[in-house]
Amino acid sequence: MILQIWYLLATGLLPVAFAAKPDYGVGFELTLDYGVASIQFRNGSHVEIAKIEGNPTYKQRMRTADFQEDHAYIAPDTPASVSWQSFRDYLPPWLGGHNHTHDSLSRMLKSLKIASESYLDASVSTAEITLPFPISKTFFDTLRSIAKSISISIPETPASPAGKLAAIHVYDIGPGNCDYFDPQDPAQVFLTVEYTRSALTVLLIYEECGVYENVRVLHEIDVGSQESTHDRRAKLTTALGDLTKMPVEFNSEVLKSLSNVVFMGESSQDQLLRDVLKDVLSKQEQSGNETTVVDKHEEPVNPVFAGSLAAARLNIFRSNVAHDEV
Ligand SMILES: *[C@@H]1O[C@H](CO)[C@@H](O)[C@H](O)[C@H]1NC(C)=O
Ligand SMILES: *[C@@H]1O[C@H](CO)[C@@H](O)[C@H](O)[C@H]1NC(C)=O
Ligand SMILES: *[C@@H]1O[C@H](CO)[C@@H](O)[C@H](O)[C@H]1NC(C)=O
Repeated sequence: MILQIWYLLATGLLPVAFAAKPDYGVGFELTLDYGVASIQFRNGSHVEIAKIEGNPTYKQRMRTADFQEDHAYIAPDTPASVSWQSFRDYLPPWLGGHNHTHDSLSRMLKSLKIASESYLDASVSTAEITLPFPISKTFFDTLRSIAKSISISIPETPASPAGKLAAIHVYDIGPGNCDYFDPQDPAQVFLTVEYTRSALTVLLIYEECGVYENVRVLHEIDVGSQESTHDRRAKLTTALGDLTKMPVEFNSEVLKSLSNVVFMGESSQDQLLRDVLKDVLSKQEQSGNETTVVDKHEEPVNPVFAGSLAAARLNIFRSNVAHDEV
């Protein structure tokens, strides 16, 4: 019971009321360039539903989505987020203005919803939405109101970033045998690396007894494959070097090495990324053998779908909580 409450706190859970307990959970991840949908069934099966390319307005909006400031460590040289709206966005509809920003996000969510509905042959009224990075309250409120306008209810608090959700719900990096009176479960720090063609998002996460905290966050745009190998190596080295600097001090614990590294996103197999991370960790004098790389699992998970699958599992989990405990 205590564990379960910890778990709820850790995942930022606030129960949502459901009319009936569905036998599936629906999860979406919105990355900078595209949206992804997955479904998790109660019997353990899951399905990769869709990966939908965003239009230019969608991409622009996602690139300027603001971060949640607290706990966020943003590496130097990360482009400052600017809130962007084109002039036409300010024109009221009766003057021919379109709310492009709103429309592009709304169309994306609608597409993901329709793709999920066509698979399920049922209407989808709730989903969990995650993004690679922690988002501001303002951006979350925008997403929530857009979701509501297409009849999808999402929880009142933002889901954790995709890497953190995937670490917990897909790759099972969790508390060990956590017993308050006889702690067998030392604190750990681990890294999640989400590398897509448009961004590198790295989270350094502290876990103690099932409570997860983002200690450092890096979200860098333009470290994609368009750049020369030399530039990319330099950028990755700086970014990952800062982010993995040891020791990590948190909650008066001092941790000297990472327990795990989780890779996700379609560029997660990138050799340069792997090499740089290895170099950086060995410079920190972390013996590589202490860090488990978990991009493989007994059950193979497509690294593009890991975030949305984790969201789908959280969605089903919340519906259990809403029924069993509230
Ligand atoms: C789980 O349920 C889904 C939907 O009812 C079904 O398509 C799938 O085959 C089931 N999987 C197993 C392993 O029973
Ligand atoms: C466009 O949509 C966003 C998100 O819902 C909203 O915050 C903004 O006020 C809208 N702009 C106009 C001009 O309606
Ligand atoms: C792990 O690395 C350390 C230092 O690099 C080495 O001394 C140790 O033998 C290694 N352990 C295993 C199990 O490989």
